Amino acid sequence: MTRTPVALVTGSSSGIGAAVARRLSAEGMTVVVNAARSVDAGRRLAASLPDARFVQADISDEDQARRLLDEVADTYGALDLLVNNAGVTRAIPHNDLEAATAEVWRTILGVNVVGTWQTTVAAMPLLRASGAGHVVNISSVAGVRPAGSSVPYAVSKAAVNHMTRLLAAAVGPEVRVNAIAPGLVDTPWTETFTEIRERVREAVPLRRTGTPEDIAELVVGLHRAAYTTGEVVLADGGAHLLI
Ligand SMILES: NC(=O)c1ccc[n+]([C@@H]2O[C@H](COP(=O)([O-])OP(=O)(O)OC[C@H]3O[C@@H](n4cnc5c(N)ncnc54)[C@H](OP(=O)(O)O)[C@@H]3O)[C@@H](O)[C@H]2O)c1
Repeated sequence: MTRTPVALVTGSSSGIGAAVARRLSAEGMTVVVNAARSVDAGRRLAASLPDARFVQADISDEDQARRLLDEVADTYGALDLLVNNAGVTRAIPHNDLEAATAEVWRTILGVNVVGTWQTTVAAMPLLRASGAGHVVNISSVAGVRPAGSSVPYAVSKAAVNHMTRLLAAAVGPEVRVNAIAPGLVDTPWTETFTEIRERVREAVPLRRTGTPEDIAELVVGLHRAAYTTGEVVLADGGAHLLI
């Protein structure tokens, strides 16, 4: 008897992560929803899906990242897809060097880079056992082109892109590792980005901002693309062609 595939989506109480969780659930997967702070929203989303469970954990904390994966192992005994979506930023003009303090750097790298790393490491035994394990890192066009909400954020996403390639080379053939680099996507995170939104709608080749569902679609597409690993796929309406 074949078992139902299991997916863990970090930071899935809102925005892109929530759309990915819904989409993977619609694809028939068992889904583990996660967030550090928005516990009620995470629980509500999990309760609305046919086969899902919410696990609170701050992925920037090594013990909590391990506990998150221990809970997946104890509950399901399997993991086939890890979507490293949890991320944070601070909006800081790139020329305001003093505002990008060591504390800001530590917070952003702590979640986006160290958190992604330690969640992936904790998940690796289950992903290897899956036989077709897959990690999808949600990066950003800011990690590919010199743009983004702050220098520490853009650097963190460039690090995620390189981590994607390095890991893909290291953990094949059992596990694939890919990344998606979105441009501006309409989520609570970007609600106040009014000026940038207008610029994107006027200038990018596809003349619109992204939706969380656009990114969820690409997660599913990459998951099906069994001969693709170590790729960073842009989903930015063509914005990178202009920057
Ligand atoms: N929106 C965009 O335009 C855009 C563009 C490019 C890339 N991205 C990337 O897409 C991802 C999701 O962004 P979004 O726009 O969907 O943002 P969002 O709506 O603010 O969602 C962020 C999610 O991450 C969770 N989270 C934050 N810190 C966490 C931690 N330490 N541990 C566990 N969960 C944590 C949040 O929940 P709690 O805070 O309650 O824990 C929330 O569920 C991020 O990695 C972001 O860099 C977004």
